[in-house]
This record gives sequence, structure tokens and C-alpha cells, in this order.
Amino acid sequence: MSPESLNIPAHIAIIMDGNGRWAKLRGLPRTKGHKAGTEAARAIVTRCRELGVRHLTLYTFSKENWNRPKEEVGTLFDLLTSFLKNEQKRLIDQDIRLKVVGDLDGMPLAVRTALKHVISKTAKCSSMTLNLALNYGGRDEIVRACRALVAAGISPEEVTEERLAGELYTAGQPDPDLVIRTSGEIRISNYLLFQCAYSEFYFTDVYWPDFTPEELEKALADYTSRQRRFGKTGDQVEAPGD
Ligand code: IPE
Ligand code: IPE
Ligand code: MG
Repeated sequence: MSPESLNIPAHIAIIMDGNGRWAKLRGLPRTKGHKAGTEAARAIVTRCRELGVRHLTLYTFSKENWNRPKEEVGTLFDLLTSFLKNEQKRLIDQDIRLKVVGDLDGMPLAVRTALKHVISKTAKCSSMTLNLALNYGGRDEIVRACRALVAAGISPEEVTEERLAGELYTAGQPDPDLVIRTSGEIRISNYLLFQCAYSEFYFTDVYWPDFTPEELEKALADYTSRQRRFGKTGDQVEAPGD
């Protein structure tokens, strides 16, 4: 399918999984897998921007990932810090705004500082929003949103789906149209639980470091062929490609 005939989602969310197994297969340490994963992420960001995706959310570090060995967690944050340093100019050149979806306060100071710097430098960029889901957990996000509503003193009747969505990290952004998970795992791993209510899911066996722009286009071709019904009958909604 040519890129012109693809239906481009407004928001793609990706669970970048399989770095460790990619490295193991090659007899390399897991850190090498994470390094290769960073490079894959860079290429996917660029391709999404070229294709006209307006929001891209990358699952970069989950709340549960704190349970990994300390050294691996350290490597992941080091890689993130150098990614931010190296990417800043490219993000600005590509007019990409960086945002964090997750609990920034729980992040190591060096990472937080690097993030805040790039977030402020790219704040006016408007071609695409790149959300890094960092120190992120979907249930935690919903609980925080509830707390914020309670703290604002609103009455039970005033609690609506929109108000709750407005307190999530993704407030103001559309829900993901397409969620991609690499590495053959078929689970959601506490990712964007509220926002994924009507997302299309695409699972591939490809490990994240091998998820090239061509693989992305395969996912988009699959997405293009689907009919999203939102509760209606197939006859009520337009056929794909119409
Ligand atoms: C994804 O790859 C990266 C993070 C979760 C940070 P993994 O590190 O989970 O790779 P596998 O699942 O062990 O292969
Ligand atoms: C999900 O991958 C988190 C990220 C990609 C950052 P994991 O590899 O941590 O997920 P589980 O624990 O296997 O479900
Ligand atoms: Mg994994």
C-alpha cells in the first residue's frame, strides 16, 4: 500500500517491547538492546511526523519497570538523557513538541532537568506532539485524576467522562486511534487504560529494535483496512476506503 493511500491515525501509541530479547538473540547485553531501541524510536518519530501523525505516544518507562535491576534502570535513564540531548535540535527542526505522560516528580533529577529543558524549548512546536510515557501507570493516572477532581471540590453529578479525561496526563489530546505493541506480547501492561477504550490494536512479533518505518507502514496498512464501528452496525458506518 502506498503511503498516500494509508489512513493516518491522529494519535498512535506504541508499547516498545522486546529490546532485551533482541539483544539476547544476538548474544549481547540487554543494554545494547535498549540502545538499538533508542535508534528505532528516532526513526519512527521521524516517519510519523512525515506521514502527518499529530500525536505519538511512546511507552518509555512504566511504573512497574522500577522492579528491574538497578543497573538496567540506570542505563535506561542514561539513554533517555542522551536521547534528549541529541534529539533537541532535530525535534525543533521537525517542529515536534515534547511532552511527558507520567509522574515527572518521581524521576531522577538529571532526567527531569533534561526533560524540562527540551519540553520548554519545543513548547511552541506544533506539527506533532511526541509524548513520552515515563514513570507511567494507567491505574495510577486514573487515581490521580480522581483525586484532582475531589480536591477541586466538585459534586458527584459534575463528574463526567470529559472532566476526568481533563485531569489525565493526556488532557487536551485525542485518544489513541491505534495502539501498537511489538515483540509478540499480547497485553496492555497498564498503558493508557482510560484512553484506549476504542483504540484499534496491532500486535507484531517484531522486536522493537527491528521495528523500522516499513514495519510501521505495515501496521498502518492493517489499520487502514479496519472498520471502526463505535457500537454501530457495519452498515451504519462507512466502509473502509470510502
Ligand atoms: C522494552 O523492552 C523496553 C522497556 C520496557 C523499557 P524490554 O526491556 O521489555 O525487552 P524484553 O521484553 O525483555 O525483551
Ligand atoms: C511495557 O513493557 C513497558 C514499556 C514498554 C516501557 P514491559 O516489557 O515492561 O511489559 P511487561 O511487564 O512484560 O508486561
Ligand atoms: Mg518487555
